[in-house]
Amino acid sequence: RGGGADDLDLDGLQVAISAGGTREPLDPVRFLGNRSSGRQGVALALAAADRGAQVVLVAANIDDGVLAEAVQHPLIRIEHAGTAAELGEAMRGAAEDAAVIVMAAAVADYRPAEVAEGKLTKESGVLESIDLVQNEDIVAALAARRHPGQVVVAFAAETPQDADELLARARRKRERKGVDLLVVNEVGWDRGFEAAENTVQIIGDGGAVLAKASGSKRAVADDIWDVIAANLG
Ligand code: CTP
Ligand code: CA
Repeated sequence: RGGGADDLDLDGLQVAISAGGTREPLDPVRFLGNRSSGRQGVALALAAADRGAQVVLVAANIDDGVLAEAVQHPLIRIEHAGTAAELGEAMRGAAEDAAVIVMAAAVADYRPAEVAEGKLTKESGVLESIDLVQNEDIVAALAARRHPGQVVVAFAAETPQDADELLARARRKRERKGVDLLVVNEVGWDRGFEAAENTVQIIGDGGAVLAKASGSKRAVADDIWDVIAANLG
């Protein structure tokens, strides 16, 4: 970016961002979840708001400590969502007035087909397996019904064999979801989700690699907003 960190190049831009990871209940005390901390999504919200954007941040199960700075920000409004269904509903609402939709949340692909009223116990029978049903693909649905000019950004965390497979998967995923931009990073047992640093590639039209970014999640967030800003009509 040309100016300093204090220039308001996103002034007045309305954005909807999801962050964190959904939890799909099995019974009152158990859920199926994932390891997303929400840090990259929160960093995207802070970066946008510091550049003047008006942000709705839909937060799925993010620790208070991770959310603290966003809670204080005058240009960020936080909505909480627990499950994929709740996150979908909140994002559909936030998307109505948004010029940019950023789906940084890790959405559970499946949810238990049945949620037990009371805690599952061994007294009531040994659990052999859990029947699952697929959750709606929220970002694909948002992309399919986006208004003219609305920019939709998806994220993907992949565990590829090599760099070629990472890009190939990212390109297929971008096409399948019908989104404008797909931000992909590599994750593994010991890196990605809880780390402070991140390395991403941003895939655009025709599968082109528009940018690579690496560093703190905040620095990566600012680089992602540079690419989004360049894609605004
Ligand atoms: N996503 C979504 N709704 C879902 C699943 C994923 O909106 N039910 C979004 C995520 O928020 C992310 C993007 O889709 O922006 C990619 O998520 P990912 O899990 O990589 O995509 P999937 O289609 O679920 O592919 P995979 O089988 O690799 O998990
Ligand atoms: Ca998935």
